[in-house]
Amino acid sequence: MSSLSQFSIGPHSLQVRQQGAGTPVLFVHGFPLDHQMWNEQFSVLGRSFRLIAPDLRGFGGSSIASGTVRMEDYADDLANLLDAMAIREPIVICALSMGGYIAFQFALKYRAKLRGLVLCDTRSAADKPEAAAGRLKTADQVLAEGPTALADGMIPKLFGPAALKDQPEIVAQTRQIILKTSREGIAAALRGMAERPDVTSALPNLDVPALLICGSEDVITPAKEMATVAAALPNARFVEIQGAGHMSPLEAPAEVNLALTEFLATI
Ligand code: MLT
Repeated sequence: MSSLSQFSIGPHSLQVRQQGAGTPVLFVHGFPLDHQMWNEQFSVLGRSFRLIAPDLRGFGGSSIASGTVRMEDYADDLANLLDAMAIREPIVICALSMGGYIAFQFALKYRAKLRGLVLCDTRSAADKPEAAAGRLKTADQVLAEGPTALADGMIPKLFGPAALKDQPEIVAQTRQIILKTSREGIAAALRGMAERPDVTSALPNLDVPALLICGSEDVITPAKEMATVAAALPNARFVEIQGAGHMSPLEAPAEVNLALTEFLATI
């Protein structure tokens, strides 16, 4: 059975879903979502591992964020969360997209705490200036008008064509999560993503065992770009999930869970 609890991290409070016992696997959600995007992984992997899925600062049931939250700030929250949970052994991080930007910061700053790294549908590069400017504009728009336009714009890009047609429940659930996310939390993350560093030059020194997963139909972080990231990492395997879009763990849980299980058995 899984449980939901709150942990105090300095002035913030993070809601965390937990299940199981064994090697800790920390799931880091994408933007602008929450821990529920990992439901399909909890159904299967919770039998063999200690699964931990926080809502990042400003998302889900965690406390509201304001201003700018940098990717490094979220990574610090995760390290502090592990301390608050008295987890001392090295963990595996499994992260999607913005979660991946945060996981890179965690890996660079807290390498000793990391046993393995699973990156889904993400990239190592920073935003191009136009993309960063677009994020700042979107942040202002969400603060003024709420997240409806953001949800409308993102949903067709988050899912591949097959999921948009055949998996209406996960599409509707994801839309609801975006609509419930606080305006301030969305804006703070957008500003943080806009100023995130390019970590590509650090990849050759990131020697942690890594599994990279990407949907073949991902239009936000294309599989081709992820394959390049995998090739630059010294100890990484790349799995492309045929037919899935950006939300591969939700769209193709069986394939993603198999890749995850195989990876976790080797580290
Ligand atoms: C995400 O899924 O976390 C976002 O699409 C990442 C981004 O906007 O770069």
